[in-house]
Amino acid sequence: MAFVLYFLFAIVQSSSCCKKEFIMKLHEVEKCAPSSDWNVLYWVLGSILMPIALPLAIINLWQRFRAQKYRNQLPGKVVLITGASSGLGESLAHVFYRAGCKVILAARRVQELERVKSDLLALDVDPAYPPTVLPLDLAELNSIPDFVSRALAVYNQVDILINNGGISVRADVASTSVDVDLKVMLVNYFGTVALTKALLPSMVKRQSGHICFISSVQGKFAIPQRAAYSASKHALQAFADSLRAEVANKKMYVSCVSPGYIRTQLSMNALTGAGSSYGKMDETTAKGMSPDKLAELILQCIMRKEPDIIVSDLQAKIAYYLRHFLPSVYFWIMAKRALKLEKAEKKAN
Ligand SMILES: NC(=O)c1ccc[n+]([C@@H]2O[C@H](COP(=O)([O-])OP(=O)(O)OC[C@H]3O[C@@H](n4cnc5c(N)ncnc54)[C@H](OP(=O)(O)O)[C@@H]3O)[C@@H](O)[C@H]2O)c1
Repeated sequence: MAFVLYFLFAIVQSSSCCKKEFIMKLHEVEKCAPSSDWNVLYWVLGSILMPIALPLAIINLWQRFRAQKYRNQLPGKVVLITGASSGLGESLAHVFYRAGCKVILAARRVQELERVKSDLLALDVDPAYPPTVLPLDLAELNSIPDFVSRALAVYNQVDILINNGGISVRADVASTSVDVDLKVMLVNYFGTVALTKALLPSMVKRQSGHICFISSVQGKFAIPQRAAYSASKHALQAFADSLRAEVANKKMYVSCVSPGYIRTQLSMNALTGAGSSYGKMDETTAKGMSPDKLAELILQCIMRKEPDIIVSDLQAKIAYYLRHFLPSVYFWIMAKRALKLEKAEKKAN
């Protein structure tokens, strides 16, 4: 973006009838009236773009320089990824393994983790460290301290924790049992919090570590039929924001990534209001972004030590801004959407 602005500025500047006149216009605005309408446009664009584009271009270059610097530091880093048995977690395992990291893969389905591990071992990577598979159930809070001890025992440290494991729900509030609300909060929020807290002391002791939370755009604004899921991701966002502030002076970093729809099994694995498996591929999920592409962006986000990013299509970004700046419009749109979903459901039954 900064480069686009910068080039636009460069074009505007070079198209200006003469550089001398342009500079004169910049410095002696009031003395020198532009000679034609085009010159007025050039002058306005040039004057506005230069102070914005130049700093943006410098910041962008600095960020790229920093990202490259951190990429060089990635080989040998220990990266613990939850939910690594499928979808985004599997893609994250691939990008960090290819970057030369020591990956620890965690989830409930050990067989799937072993499949991911053998896929990684088949890659031609240098340096390559054999991935470690560790079973983890985020809903079993009491088992988490033991899981963390085993994770730390592998390499004596974890440099990057990616809290990716999670489940979703497909039901309206009225037909969602409290057990399902609890389950979603347990996996997405309390399990993730318990894991983070169990690992935190080792990172604080070393004054080093990066914790990344995979939230969702639904952690920024809620949509109908996803109350429990949205609530769990809102909670995660708040937890990440507090933690980031607390560890900022300990040379530790916290990133919160809020993606839009991703082409994974999330809707297939989602719960219904009664707690059974939803088992359907939603159209929105099927048309979502590629998990491999997103995983690469998350790696860059971590390398750049970005605190908070939204990776989504324009529609979700508009919804986000409407929720914050024009809430009544957002509420109206969501009420329409809820009605549409209700009608579609009635028709289907
Ligand atoms: N897909 C989307 O549209 C989308 C959009 C925004 C954000 N996200 C977020 O992205 C993350 C990854 O989801 P995904 O899209 O890749 O879906 P996915 O393919 O269903 O993957 C979910 C992962 O979470 C793990 N998991 C579920 N319950 C668990 C538990 N109790 N303990 C430990 N691990 C558990 C699953 O592994 P096991 O079943 O083997 O335990 C699986 O590896 C989630 O946090 C999700 O909320 C997804």
